[in-house]
Amino acid sequence: MHTISDYQGYFLEYLSKQTATKEPKNLYEPISYILSLGGKRLRPTLVLMAAEIFGGSYKEALDAALAIEVFHNFSLIHDDIMDDAPLRRGKETVHEKWDINTGILSGDAMLINAYQLFENYEGNTFKELAKLFTKTAIEVCEGQQYDIDFETRDDVTIPEYIKMIEYKTAVLVGAAMKMGAIVADASEQSKSSIYDFGRLLGLAFQLQDDYLDAFGDPQTFGKQIGGDIIENKKTFLYLKALEYASKDEQKQLRGLFSLNPEDPTEKISTVKHLFETTGAKERTRVEIEQYTQKAFSALDDMSISEEKKDLLKLFGSKLMNRSV
Ligand code: IPE
Ligand code: IPE
Ligand code: MG
Ligand code: MG
Ligand code: MG
Repeated sequence: MHTISDYQGYFLEYLSKQTATKEPKNLYEPISYILSLGGKRLRPTLVLMAAEIFGGSYKEALDAALAIEVFHNFSLIHDDIMDDAPLRRGKETVHEKWDINTGILSGDAMLINAYQLFENYEGNTFKELAKLFTKTAIEVCEGQQYDIDFETRDDVTIPEYIKMIEYKTAVLVGAAMKMGAIVADASEQSKSSIYDFGRLLGLAFQLQDDYLDAFGDPQTFGKQIGGDIIENKKTFLYLKALEYASKDEQKQLRGLFSLNPEDPTEKISTVKHLFETTGAKERTRVEIEQYTQKAFSALDDMSISEEKKDLLKLFGSKLMNRSV
């Protein structure tokens, strides 16, 4: 086993060898742009780590890790179009720097390229990876559609929200870990437990993302603060605030989430204030902690060493306390 930052380093080295800009430039430049903007490289790191946890070599898992990261970056390009987001990783989003059509097509090419990377695996491994990828990618689309549908609904429930973030975000984290296990030819039981660990960690991760969208530091977060409030996203923060609010506050919050003002400054500050005073902000921290603990308990009946479990827990704790 290596350290988390070793795995991240191996992935970055592999990625840096891939980015040859081909013709037509307007298709490939945005791809190099988004892939070189950085990001936490969380998912590919998890693929490599999982491969070694189950006795494989990280080297065999590099193409699966790259496929997951390329797919993730594709989903970000399209997500930024859908969310009308100006900033990604502290820089202009692809559709702002180029245009929407470029974002659509470069994104499409990335999705196909991700799939293509699985062709580097033989027989059963290829089949298993491709099958998991297809199932996961479809679920991400479903999650993204729920996310958009919820913007204009005023009766979204917390279980609906959890299902939405499970699909748009958590299943990919689970799939990343399971792909490492597939490459290492782990047992069915191990594959299913590690998927569950990743899925639960992914739920905590998206809750944290929603939290940072409102309360993150604009200097470090790299995305527009308040973007979810501007877009009337039905996040856990919003749904809990509604639940805890007085009748008057509920009316105010619902009212604000039915508007799309030209200048959103005041909307953002009023909504954030309500998230705080109703206790929704604190409650979200508790929920993040609980999902992280649930993820840790998915490791309980896994037959891997305590040392390996500790490495996974360290990763989970870091995610929960991140500011980016
Ligand atoms: C952003 O993912 C999209 C979500 C699922 C919240 P990350 O926070 O992993 O983005 P990068 O890759 O580190 O920029
Ligand atoms: C994104 O959720 C999930 C996917 C990209 C599939 P968000 O819309 O919250 O992600 P960010 O905050 O823009 O990174
Ligand atoms: Mg977004
Ligand atoms: Mg989105
Ligand atoms: Mg977000």
